[in-house]
Amino acid sequence: MKDPKELLALMTLEEKAAMCDGKDYWHLKGIERLGIPEIMVCDGPHGLRKKDYEKKGSSLSASVPSICFPTAVTTACSWDPDLLEKMGKALGGKCLKEKVGVLLGPGVNMKRSPLCGRNFEYFSEDPVLAGELAASFINGVQSRGVGTSLKHFCANDQESRRMNGDSVVDERALREIYLPAFEIAVKKAQPWTVMNSYNKINGTFGSENAHTQTEILRDDWGFEGAIVTDWGACNNRDDGLAAGNDIEMPSSSGAGTRKILDAVKSGKISEELLNERVLKILELIKKAADGAEKAEKEGFEFDEEKDHLLAKEIAEQSMVLLKNDGILPLDKSKKVAVIGEMAKTPRYQGAGSSQINPTHLDGAYDILVAAGVNATYSQGYERTLAKAKKNPAHIEEAVAAAKNADTVLLFIGLTEDYESEGFDRTHMKLPDAHIELVKAVSAVNKNIVVILSGGAPVEFDWDNDSVRAILNSYLGGQAGAGAVVDIVLGRVNPSGKLAETYPEKLEDNPSFNNFPGNIATVEYRESVYIGYRYYEKAGQSVRYPFGYGLSYTTFEYSGLYIDKTDMDENDTLSVSFRVKNTGSVVGFETAQLYVGDPESTIFRPVKELKGFKKIWLEPGEEKAITITLNKRAFAFFNVKTNGWCVESGIFNIYVGASSADIRLTGSVNVTAAPVEIPDYRETAPVYYTGKVQSVPDDQFTAVLGRPIPPTERDRSTPLTVVDSFETSSYTKWGGRINNLMHKMIPVFVKGPGADFAIGIATQTPIRNFISMSGGVFSEKMAAGLLRILNGDKPGKGLRMILSDIPRAIKGIGPLMKQI
Ligand code: BGC
Repeated sequence: MKDPKELLALMTLEEKAAMCDGKDYWHLKGIERLGIPEIMVCDGPHGLRKKDYEKKGSSLSASVPSICFPTAVTTACSWDPDLLEKMGKALGGKCLKEKVGVLLGPGVNMKRSPLCGRNFEYFSEDPVLAGELAASFINGVQSRGVGTSLKHFCANDQESRRMNGDSVVDERALREIYLPAFEIAVKKAQPWTVMNSYNKINGTFGSENAHTQTEILRDDWGFEGAIVTDWGACNNRDDGLAAGNDIEMPSSSGAGTRKILDAVKSGKISEELLNERVLKILELIKKAADGAEKAEKEGFEFDEEKDHLLAKEIAEQSMVLLKNDGILPLDKSKKVAVIGEMAKTPRYQGAGSSQINPTHLDGAYDILVAAGVNATYSQGYERTLAKAKKNPAHIEEAVAAAKNADTVLLFIGLTEDYESEGFDRTHMKLPDAHIELVKAVSAVNKNIVVILSGGAPVEFDWDNDSVRAILNSYLGGQAGAGAVVDIVLGRVNPSGKLAETYPEKLEDNPSFNNFPGNIATVEYRESVYIGYRYYEKAGQSVRYPFGYGLSYTTFEYSGLYIDKTDMDENDTLSVSFRVKNTGSVVGFETAQLYVGDPESTIFRPVKELKGFKKIWLEPGEEKAITITLNKRAFAFFNVKTNGWCVESGIFNIYVGASSADIRLTGSVNVTAAPVEIPDYRETAPVYYTGKVQSVPDDQFTAVLGRPIPPTERDRSTPLTVVDSFETSSYTKWGGRINNLMHKMIPVFVKGPGADFAIGIATQTPIRNFISMSGGVFSEKMAAGLLRILNGDKPGKGLRMILSDIPRAIKGIGPLMKQI
């Protein structure tokens, strides 16, 4: 492909406008006469979800088989950027094989609440950890000549009302918590694309937000790539383009192109601005085309069997041993009762757009038997939640097996029905049937080892010291079962550490009173206090702290050396220490470095993660670790100066094995230029206590720096395509349709899958019915629907819809072929 600038000069205005709109669901347009190829973009990111056009069904059910690595919630617990890079490289190879130009991930949204349905796809509650891992993953994929899409930019930390909710978050929390993972990944890896989130960020949709896309992403961080909408996240195409967005996906079937052309012709946007956007798209296509060409000419590495082994290695290093009184590693000569259907059919990935069709799927029971363990199997419960009510026959069978065994390996956890893209959990409990099973089995056998699966924290009310060990296998990917067995048998020493806090109970989490929020908004009242930043400041005890994970060996930390006692804010600080394996088995340890500002004018968490290092140690071996800190490690975001700022004074340096297990402490005196620092001690004192679950309106207003926006839609203006049945539920017909959906959907869809369907049906903006259906639901139908909802000649509205149905029916077949 020729130089993008040259090509741009040869393009007509119409071609340029059209280029900003995708070709279909999974392709960007090319232009044959100019030799510009179309490129394919596909979901992942822990595998490749490429639609198999030969097979019937959507790409959720019919995608090309691909390696399925553990999902981000799991890989984050490896704390190992090198592993993430290897995983990225492997996936890059798969993309080359399948001729895919961009892999749509990774996701680096923050785990604001344990309930977010997509937490399994995100790394952490800590932006430094998430950002470092994402950067390595991106570097891995892109080193193969395949692009990535860093998503969902930004403040998309829940699934409820994700398509038209407004995340109300103060600028400081945005810069310190919700953006840095994106920032680190952009600065260290330059993803080829960044994907907007659906939601509004402080009143403006992600795809139309000039503050986030242009001022921060491009101007402040120096992002060089293209910005793509999430699928259906385009609102007003011309406003989006003006604000920094380059590509609308999936294709709007020409509607976006027409809007752009009109805007250029009317002078609303200049042709220069359109040129800038098109150049980004051409550069993206060229990178992908060059990558594909190079692979074709020179060949490339791709080995499915090796990828399976890598998937196992990643799972081994990511699973977290939460509890162990010494029962693990398991004595192989013991008689083992394996209980729980997940031992045969693992829960190994999440549900939704990231769902991979794996090349292979291991089961733990089979691997245990193959390893020579004397094991029986009982199902324990039904695998799918719709049927996972207590089943006395399963429990009886499991109890009988447990009575006859020395040890029980009990596989329990969250099923797909609990967590998925598209809806949030409403509680943190395990399925009732699983809890019942633990109770029944632990009444007859005291040697219970639980293997927990799931993509987010659960409550441990079922473990009143009734189980001896808990291995959190999270979502281990297609080879995860082998990792479970190797850890259980001690062939692998567990080394995963939690990338998120496990609170005692849901009510303890900082966003508890403000999640998932109101019909129109979700208020991030807790500001910078997310995860451990909150629990530590508020003095709230937790079940398992951030950074925590057990090993079969022990580590000793010593020799903290901080190379300066006094430093200028622009100096770098080098922190060194030693870690020794004091046990008898080999293993990895992840050392974590936190910085705290004990006295500050602005409210701050007790400490924050600023660096980490995972090392491999033989028994008795000792290694030195050095972590370098720069100004950013001490800084907060100052809304008065609109920049990063350090307040002079003593800073504490903490080195530990987890956020709650600090082994070494030191300090440094930092001198910084005096600047005006916001002082909320009078106006928002609650933030200095950390008790931010219920922040009064006036105090949140002070920190937000503007009035809190209305929690409901403004009823004085007519409903538009941005509305959903939920936001229109205060109207006669909106209310009726909304209620009807809530009543009727559970009749047809059983179990919590109904929540998903209800969410989609009631919370999706009307404009998305058009854009996501490739026009099957037409603008005319939308106009008819709005007439009904607005009570503006509803009969006519109904006729408008009905008259277009024959055309719509014809479009369904072709649409299904695309998706
Ligand atoms: C998801 C994205 C995904 C896209 C394409 C959206 O609904 O939010 O993460 O990449 O669909 O499937």
